[in-house]
Amino acid sequence: MNNDKIHVLTHPLIQHKISLMRDKNAGAKEFRELTSEVALLMTYEATRDLPLKKVQIETPVALAETNVITGRKVALIPILRAGLGMVDGAVSLIPAAKIGHIGICRSSDRDNHINANVDEYYCKLPFDIKERDVIVMDLMLASGNCASAAISKVKETGAMSIKFISVISCPEGINNLRDNHPDVEIYTGALDKGLNDDMYIIPGFGDGGDRIFGTK
Ligand code: URA
Repeated sequence: MNNDKIHVLTHPLIQHKISLMRDKNAGAKEFRELTSEVALLMTYEATRDLPLKKVQIETPVALAETNVITGRKVALIPILRAGLGMVDGAVSLIPAAKIGHIGICRSSDRDNHINANVDEYYCKLPFDIKERDVIVMDLMLASGNCASAAISKVKETGAMSIKFISVISCPEGINNLRDNHPDVEIYTGALDKGLNDDMYIIPGFGDGGDRIFGTK
């Protein structure tokens, strides 16, 4: 595995908040708030390489030679539905970001067992996404099939600069993205053990969408 493009974010605040999210007794309100806070911190880490340019700004005291962000604007692309929980936190740091949505879910068979296929049911992306730095986000990187399909969809637009953020991940998902999208930088707050037979991350969070939206 090429680890250069995989960033496991060890900031104590991220680690602490993820631990609180793992607790099965955390209710939807708490889980949602923590998701947003972790997304903010992860966005901060994932944007460390935004280019700067020097400008002169007059302070009340003197002329300052100082830095502002330059270059391409940002597009945030949450994968529905759990990725939606990460948007507020990211937007609070990058208020001018445009936001696209990709609705994609894991397919299940007649016995409700999740299989390796994905169903895309919605896609609306900013018209100028090609000119933007794109951050695709999902709460969890499990098999990686949804994330990989979402990134392929973004690439179809011609977008070249793509990062992927997920609060927790596992080796199966990381390997999937590494194989299918070796150009994409991955930022995650935790690399868990792996997937169980129902394709849930162990130990994970359980169903991320249900936990954010209180649907279970
Ligand atoms: N999606 C979830 O909601 N939970 C998992 O553990 C894996 C994927």
